[in-house]
Amino acid sequence: MASFKSLPGFRDFYPEDLAPRTHLFRQWRQSAHAFGFQEYDAPVLESLDLYKAKSGDEIEGQLFNFTDKGEREVTLRPEMTPTVCRMVGAKANALKRPIKWFSIADLFRYERMQKGRGRCFAQFNADIFGEAGPEAEIELISLLIQCLRGMGLQSEDFHVRLSDRNLWFYYLEARGLGDEQVKAMLGAIDKFERLGEDAFEIYTKTHGAMSDDLKSAVLRMLAIKSLADLEAVVAELDNAQLTERLDDWRKVLGGLDAMGLSDFVSVDLGVVRGLAYYTGFVFEAFDRKGDLRALAGGGRYNDLVKKLGGPELPAVGFAIGDMTMELLLRERGLLPDVASRPDVYVVVGGAEERLEAFRDIAALRAVGYRVDYPMKDLGFGKQFKNATESGARIALIYGGDELAKGVVKLRDLSQREEVDVPREQVAEAVRDFLSG
Ligand code: HAM
Repeated sequence: MASFKSLPGFRDFYPEDLAPRTHLFRQWRQSAHAFGFQEYDAPVLESLDLYKAKSGDEIEGQLFNFTDKGEREVTLRPEMTPTVCRMVGAKANALKRPIKWFSIADLFRYERMQKGRGRCFAQFNADIFGEAGPEAEIELISLLIQCLRGMGLQSEDFHVRLSDRNLWFYYLEARGLGDEQVKAMLGAIDKFERLGEDAFEIYTKTHGAMSDDLKSAVLRMLAIKSLADLEAVVAELDNAQLTERLDDWRKVLGGLDAMGLSDFVSVDLGVVRGLAYYTGFVFEAFDRKGDLRALAGGGRYNDLVKKLGGPELPAVGFAIGDMTMELLLRERGLLPDVASRPDVYVVVGGAEERLEAFRDIAALRAVGYRVDYPMKDLGFGKQFKNATESGARIALIYGGDELAKGVVKLRDLSQREEVDVPREQVAEAVRDFLSG
């Protein structure tokens, strides 16, 4: 019979693969708790309608959807945002605001295979509902930075590129573009980094040629690198909406600066985000070298809860993916050695000694020590080899001679030194050795 493999883009997690992932999850959870976020979870299978025309064409084209046995149109979830909006929307009046929630969950997208992209990957999602002001952006961007710093990454390793779809709307509308034209232009800007000026075809193919003026206006925005640059562009235009919007920018950047996070944040209007629902500030985290695809992405989406049947509820959020994150940490040597190894390896003389040892093994495990022993009767030489290979720091030796004297031998596996320990003091001796 043919042997089976996991499907393309789906990963098996052997213990050595799972350990780094568990490390990521633990750090993310710790950061979210430090920021006062509460964890939620939800089903992996959702109704197809939840994503149709809401997440955007790109995600819609990548859905793992099918008709179930009850003739329902369903799909594995490609992202968490519509789900969390559905959940929050259903109980919005009962939830204390601001609602600060996070999740760690598997998602499914039928993507083209490439480095750092899979068809099943995990995301850490954090979202705030019920806060319309830029304070929510400050809280989330600082959480995003903390999630990456918690792994040992510094401002030389990554940055968060901050942009604003509102600013683009006001700026392009002031130049006479209508709603559809602005959307097409944002589609082009989304691809500009990869395609250069060829990206403008996304706009020109539906809206006709771009004037030189319009092109240079767009390029001017894309060249902005700081708040001062942005202020200079806005000052020239004398537009009330743009001027007012700058206050929000000052609040976000000022708040992040007060938290000591300025080095982690770049003003960069080249980020507009491919998902359809964003309505204001948007941001993405990238490695500084720019070798990898995005580490994280998010933004404000004030209309989505309502579009999915809930009340009007402003929202901001982001998600970090596990795959690029792990690649970057591996590249920087920041994945700790998290292999699980025993504290104590027990070596037994034979069947009788094994039963004697079981009593102490059970007692040591019950107080939290990691204890391992051979399942089969083996010679001492083979058992010591296993003990060393297990990575344990000490071996406890239950030989017939020792037990007759009422002791066991405690061997320091790195120094190869041994002492006799009275049976009733085994737990204390283990504790003293491991803590000293
Ligand atoms: P997204 O930009 O589609 O945003 O995904 C966020 C992150 O998930 C990406 O930066 C990337 O690290 C990871 N990711 C996405 N697709 C894949 C894939 N096929 N393979 C591996 N990793 C992937 C969202 O999903 C939004 N729902 C985020 C959000 C939350 N916005 C508001 N709240």
